Amino acid sequence: MAASTPTLAAPRSPRRARRPNTELYSWVFMRASGALLLILIFVHLFTNLVSGGGVSAIDFGFVAGKWAKPVWQVWDLLILWLAMIHGANGLRTIINDYATRTGTRLTLMGLLAVAFAVVVVLGTLVIFTFSPCPPGAPADLLPSFCTAG
Ligand code: HEM
Repeated sequence: MAASTPTLAAPRSPRRARRPNTELYSWVFMRASGALLLILIFVHLFTNLVSGGGVSAIDFGFVAGKWAKPVWQVWDLLILWLAMIHGANGLRTIINDYATRTGTRLTLMGLLAVAFAVVVVLGTLVIFTFSPCPPGAPADLLPSFCTAG
């Protein structure tokens, strides 16, 4: 007698015909953004930890010096946005895979959306509004290089 063939349960959300396959694009995006993140993050680690004075040289002045150059502002902005979109999209997949109750799923998606918005908006503001020597600040709170010149 032939052994019975194992079968897989039908997927919970079958793809409707004629709709763009957004999950396929999302999967391709995860691969592409992962590859791009590798480059962005390794250059970031190299400039911060290898080409400079190592981890002990990283202080307020080091960050201020980097963000004085637009190229590092854009580099850090790309890391922030890409890591957040990649990470949030990955968590979206995990929530869809494991949260079977609609209420749980919507709550988790809402929390994810709020966390994403807060980190992206605050991070972007910090990168572009950062000023190491804000005018009018008390002199004893400013780093020493602000008083030079
Ligand atoms: C060098 C950096 C990174 C690379 C190369 C990378 C690569 C990848 C790849 C290829 C996937 C898809 C896995 C699959 O579909 O089987 C993935 C998924 C994921 N990544 Fe990343 N990633 C990186 C950084 C990050 C960062 C910074 C975060 C968080 C902010 C993150 C969070 C996630 C999450 C939550 C998933 C979904 C995992 C799942 O579906 O089970 N990744 N990553």
